[in-house]
Amino acid sequence: MSLILHSPLDMHLHLRDEKMLENIAQASAHTFSGGLIMPNLVPPVSSKEEIVAYKNRILKAIGKETFTPYMTLFFKSTYDKTFLESVRDEITAIKLYPAGITTNSEGGVSGFDIEELRPTLEAMSELGIPLCVHGETNGFVMDREAEFVAIYEKLASAFPKLKIIMEHITTKKSVEALDKFENLYATITVHHLMITLDDVAGGMLKPHLFCKPIAKRPEDREALLRVALNAHPKVMFGSDSAPHPQHAKESCGCAAGVFTAPIALQVLAELFEKNGASQEKLQAFVCGNAQKIYNITPLPKKVVLEKKPFKVPQLYSGVVPMYAGEEITYSIKEVYNGR
Ligand code: NCD
Ligand code: ZN
Repeated sequence: MSLILHSPLDMHLHLRDEKMLENIAQASAHTFSGGLIMPNLVPPVSSKEEIVAYKNRILKAIGKETFTPYMTLFFKSTYDKTFLESVRDEITAIKLYPAGITTNSEGGVSGFDIEELRPTLEAMSELGIPLCVHGETNGFVMDREAEFVAIYEKLASAFPKLKIIMEHITTKKSVEALDKFENLYATITVHHLMITLDDVAGGMLKPHLFCKPIAKRPEDREALLRVALNAHPKVMFGSDSAPHPQHAKESCGCAAGVFTAPIALQVLAELFEKNGASQEKLQAFVCGNAQKIYNITPLPKKVVLEKKPFKVPQLYSGVVPMYAGEEITYSIKEVYNGR
């Protein structure tokens, strides 16, 4: 049995830089037609020169693959309209991080004073630049995202024309917010569709499943599954594939991030099949919805998956992927660049 996906998109992707970029870019560029590239480098991507240079490094790393890096800028409330106009054509979105909430986010926003953010957000709204948000407060780890929903709602009503994407949502509460505000959208990862906190910390600790936001309760996962499997038009796939070297994960002080790029489509194919969700829904979740939300035209690419066991490698260039050493039921059979 085989399944064809057209131009799959990964709308939340960490490609890193330097050696890591060179080593892992292929894992996404082979099977995806494009990805929204996160800007949390050290230092974060925050000028036109940095975006252009980073994009060129990515294009070099992916070589001959058909893959569009949709670039993002690291949000700062100092960006004014003139600056945003000058970068408009180089970016697909701007990513906002609360200060210090996750990997390399120290230069992010603290306090969420709407008046302080207003000039930048109004200019983004006028220029049609979407705002992607890592929505977590610095409260108790299991409550961070749910607490942030109030901030999402405040932003959504203060800037009704600004497209706001709640990144990597993990809670029922965020799912419910989607239908309350026209301008709220969301990405969902594959790992948050597959696991709960029990899989991370319920038995022996699994550092390779540790990420921000942390996986939540079964009822939260159920809520995510409902909207993903139905391809709710306001949700799209964003892997949040976030590679860290093996030593940074298997250490005391484990870095947050799950590396899913090489297995994401195979696992989604299995998940949709198992739950009786159609190929059309999967296609919408991994491409069609993002295309409409971001108003992008992905490069043509045809990914053929087949129901044949795939033993996930233990390592990809020093990075341990999700399901390392385990067998998953779908494999990538062929990829055609073009129609
Ligand atoms: C991401 C990373 O490592 O860059 N980590 C993660 O746990 N998801 C950052 C992020 O998206 O929060
Ligand atoms: Zn991320």
